Amino acid sequence: MDAHSDAVQRRRTFAIISHPDAGKTTLTEKLLLFGGAIQLAGAVRARGEQRRARSDWMAIERQRGISVTASVMTFEHRGLTFNLLDTPGHEDFSEDTYRTLTAVDSAVMVLDAAKGIETQTRKLFEVCRLRDVPIITFVNKVDREGREPFDLLDEIEKTLALDVTPLTWPIGMGRDLRGCYDLVNDRVLLFDPGRGDQINEAVAMSLADPGLDGLVGGPAAAKLREEVELVRAACPPFSLEAYRAGHLTPVFFGSALRNFGVGELLGGLADLAPPPQSCPAEPRAVAADEGAVTGFVFKIQANMDPNHRDRIAFVRLVSGRFRRGMKLKHVRTGKLLAVYNPVLFLARERELADEAVAGDIIGIPNHGALRIGDTLTEGEDLRFTGIPSFAPEVLRRIRLDDPMRAKQLRRALEDLAEEGVSQVFKPLNGATWIVGVVGQLQFDVLVARIAAEYSIKAGFEEAPYETARWVHADDQTVLKRFAEANGANMAEDRDGALVYLARNAWQLGRAQEDFPAVRFSATREQH
Ligand code: G4P
Repeated sequence: MDAHSDAVQRRRTFAIISHPDAGKTTLTEKLLLFGGAIQLAGAVRARGEQRRARSDWMAIERQRGISVTASVMTFEHRGLTFNLLDTPGHEDFSEDTYRTLTAVDSAVMVLDAAKGIETQTRKLFEVCRLRDVPIITFVNKVDREGREPFDLLDEIEKTLALDVTPLTWPIGMGRDLRGCYDLVNDRVLLFDPGRGDQINEAVAMSLADPGLDGLVGGPAAAKLREEVELVRAACPPFSLEAYRAGHLTPVFFGSALRNFGVGELLGGLADLAPPPQSCPAEPRAVAADEGAVTGFVFKIQANMDPNHRDRIAFVRLVSGRFRRGMKLKHVRTGKLLAVYNPVLFLARERELADEAVAGDIIGIPNHGALRIGDTLTEGEDLRFTGIPSFAPEVLRRIRLDDPMRAKQLRRALEDLAEEGVSQVFKPLNGATWIVGVVGQLQFDVLVARIAAEYSIKAGFEEAPYETARWVHADDQTVLKRFAEANGANMAEDRDGALVYLARNAWQLGRAQEDFPAVRFSATREQH
């Protein structure tokens, strides 16, 4: 294997999916600690606290410097480089979150042992399933009273339709937590309530060993033996192939807060999670070990500095070896883009390294030329596919308090839509823009950002529409007739694509019945 393929094979690019409060921030912090990125761990914590003070949006704004770094966290462990992509979207679930999941090769699903699968876990899981992203499960908070492990496994299997294979097993829970049994290596990881597991070495010991009784106590040892026997009978043996195909999830138990079982989880990621994978594109798929650089934009962060209207496009490298100063082809426009000052996310010594390989993320500062879904190459005409634009779930009409500022408002809406947190629709008959978002809270965020970054006072009010669908037809005259017949419901998105805004499900159904040759799609693939 040459040095380049070797570097690619050593990348693990992943995200953590969870419901709010399951422990994502705490786990992230502990993973970074393992990788020696201690200073960053503090930044993650700071963000966790900000999130709780979400009403104070200005404070969050001031911290945006941190949030860029925290969008991509890189650390090293056992000779591997881990890129952990933050999935924003806790309360403010947004399209950004979905798209970040198109830029990872695997995910860790964190569950609260007392709560199991929650709504957001499920939503994020469904997005992973679209691409069969391999998932490792971490059942968190075993230091507190939780549900029976069997009950949790059963829930994962039933609600997510996934095979489940535990790789560790808790010895007791809550106040009775004694440790975890490593089912792969037959060893006991002891829990010390005073210290967590940072200090304790795992003790090699088979279940049959009478020493187990002395180590964890007779009743706990007996219960463990019984449960493991049941696990081995009831769960399929671990299969790397099934995990990588997205059909089976290995499960680890632990406590992020007490730093217990996190090392085992990280070991699991190192051993099992796939290195960078090939990516679907038109006209051909791209393999990770190809020599030429290719990548796609999965996220835009705008207005890092309100004085400069700059933005950073986050690019997932799919292949090749990127070097600072490289010229890349921006396939959508055909233009060459010289990337002199990329933001590289590196585990250490940021300023020294200036290369990135497949699986890594680079940030490219630009003034709006790059959009979500754009492909960059060293010259080949390729287009990565499958980066979806999601159907907005809530639509509102924008209200401008000062009509003189309509032009600026339009600019603000377009800028923010470019970041991918919202979508704007311009009705064909009518002047007020309709804004669509995936989660209700996005409206508050938009109002605050429009005020802070553009000095415009605006608000949102009820729109007469409930849902939006992009419309297509093979025969353009059919589409034209459709648009004429539904004048009051037609709008364009910011790229001029035709959108049908429906008052309710009934009206949408009716339109579909009347025009069977028109295709209605809830999402729009970029370009
Ligand atoms: P999130 O990012 O998924 O929203 O979760 P976060 O890590 O912020 O954790 C949510 C709460 O759960 C926090 O408590 C955190 O300390 C707690 N927690 C996380 N992991 C564990 C664990 O393994 N065991 C126990 N017992 N608790 C855990 P909080 O009181 O809401 O916040 P804080 O005051 O501790 O910051």
